[in-house]
Amino acid sequence: MSLRLDGKNALITGGASGIGRASALRFAQEGANICVADRQAAAAEETAGEVRKLGRKALAVAVDVSNPQQVQTMVERAARELGGIDIVLAAAGVSAANYGEGPIESKFLNELPFENWRKVMSINLDGVFLTCTAVAREMIKQGRGGRIIAISSGAAKVPLKGSGDYCVSKAGVWMLMKCMALELGRYNITANAIGPGVIDTPMTKEMQSDPRFERMIKRTPLKRIGKPEDVANTALFLASEEGSFFTGSILHPDGGVIMQ
Ligand SMILES: NC(=O)c1ccc[n+]([C@@H]2O[C@H](COP(=O)([O-])OP(=O)(O)OC[C@H]3O[C@@H](n4cnc5c(N)ncnc54)[C@H](O)[C@@H]3O)[C@@H](O)[C@H]2O)c1
Repeated sequence: MSLRLDGKNALITGGASGIGRASALRFAQEGANICVADRQAAAAEETAGEVRKLGRKALAVAVDVSNPQQVQTMVERAARELGGIDIVLAAAGVSAANYGEGPIESKFLNELPFENWRKVMSINLDGVFLTCTAVAREMIKQGRGGRIIAISSGAAKVPLKGSGDYCVSKAGVWMLMKCMALELGRYNITANAIGPGVIDTPMTKEMQSDPRFERMIKRTPLKRIGKPEDVANTALFLASEEGSFFTGSILHPDGGVIMQ
């Protein structure tokens, strides 16, 4: 059987960890060359090394996706060094302003400092806007179509107490994909969102020790937490020929929890 992404080039932000890393490896197994971009430079290099072991081209780029100049440089490097970009997966994100800096500070919106709100928006929403629009300009120039995929969340639909900034950023990502789908269809470029349920990555390690986590799994029809590979396979579908008639959609790899 032929590989599903044979010879395609993919840029993946957040590729150093969790969902982005699993997607980089899954795409590479299906024949894609990968630009692994992340603010964690050493871990991005490690993912790129794993991609090379699978026999594909890979480069690692250190980037803060909320910085317009760094994002532009990332996209130019990926296009130049891989020979164009066919797929972008925008997976870089944070669950709160202090994500990665200690225990998560969960605050109700009326207590949330404006700078926390701005930080989450600048990474989760501005970062996806900057990444996907810079890649779209490149794809239009190349003239060979393309696939834009952004990791939103079930939180785009379901409000979560104490995570209002995150929920709003992810609802914005979903609407961004719908607007891009409308505007880019004429170039044969699709734009879709993925809204995962709870997935076993560093982002959910802290919540997995909370008693509410067990109750959440009980409420999940499939009775388990998701694996990063569940999301990677969803992204693979949207990036592959099988997904070519999807645009402006959101798919939920979530074990059935979000519908309730
Ligand atoms: N894990 C879940 O349950 C879950 C559920 C729904 C959505 N998501 C979303 O999936 C995406 C991936 O998250 P994950 O669960 O794999 O977590 P993760 O922490 O393992 O991965 C997130 C990656 O994004 C990178 N990153 C963060 N800020 C960045 C910045 N400013 N510039 C560049 N890179 C940056 C981090 O370094 C990390 O490698 C996120 O957008 C997250 O919101 C996760």
